[in-house]
Parts: sequence; structure tokens; C-alpha cells
Amino acid sequence: MNDALLYLHLALAIVISGLLLASRVRQWRWLSMAAALLLLLTGAHNFATRMQAPPPGWHALAGIKVLIGLHALAMVFLLARGGTEEKEKRWRKGALISAGITLGMGLYLSNIMR
Ligand code: HEM
Repeated sequence: MNDALLYLHLALAIVISGLLLASRVRQWRWLSMAAALLLLLTGAHNFATRMQAPPPGWHALAGIKVLIGLHALAMVFLLARGGTEEKEKRWRKGALISAGITLGMGLYLSNIMR
């Protein structure tokens, strides 16, 4: 079950990154918001289950990952709501950078650190 939710988290992370890369968050608003919400819920579940017996340094890195991930999700919600062209450009850039860092950190935490 825990592994299934970790894979779901990974799949959702890829969906969100794809929507951001293709600049389709606004057009696929409901999909984007549903994916962001599920990413948050599966992430919170992963956090609660994986914080038991973590490798040394896990808490510090996982905490930073969660904060950057939350930034990416906040930008996705703003993009789904929509704004001026200039703001949307800025939000997309911020979301792409944060999602990329979070993706890398998540894969490191799950597959290399433990
Ligand atoms: C755009 C946002 C996010 C992206 C791109 C992302 C990406 C990832 C990826 C790729 C993994 C590794 C999955 C695997 O190896 O199968 C992961 C793991 C994880 N994520 Fe996220 N994530 C995001 C948001 C969040 C949020 C909001 C939380 C917490 C509320 C969270 C908590 C976690 C935890 C605890 C793990 C497991 C770490 C471990 O195994 O030690 N993530 N994430």
C-alpha cells in the first residue's frame, strides 16, 4: 500500500511536470488541480509513513523537499486560476524550477538515500 502510494505520487509528479512543460495548466485546469491535491495528500501520507526509522539527515532534506514542493503546487493553483500574461510566465517558471528540484530530491530520498 505504501509503495503503491509512493508510485502514485511519482506518477502525479510526472503529470504535473508535463502539464507545466506543455503550458497546459490553464486549459486542463481540473486535471491540474486534482493532480496537485492528490500530490499533496499522497506526499503527506508518504511523509507520515517514511519518517519512521529514516536514514540520518532524512528529516532535514525531506523538510526542504516538502517546502519546495508546496511552492510548486501553489504556483500550479495560481496558474489554474489564471492571471496576466506576465504573471503567468513568472508563475510557470517558478513552478518548473521548484517541480524539477522537488522531483530530483524525491527520487534521491526514496531511491538513493535509503
Ligand atoms: C510538485 C510537487 C512534488 C513533486 C514533483 C514531488 C516528487 C516526488 C518524487 C519524484 C518522489 C520519489 C517517488 C519515487 O521514488 O517513487 C517523491 C517522494 C516523496 N515526496 Fe514528493 N513531490 C512533490 C510534492 C510533495 C509534497 C507536497 C509532499 C509532502 C506534503 C511530498 C512528500 C514526499 C515524501 C515524504 C516522499 C518520500 C521520501 C522518501 O522516500 O524518503 N512531496 N516526491
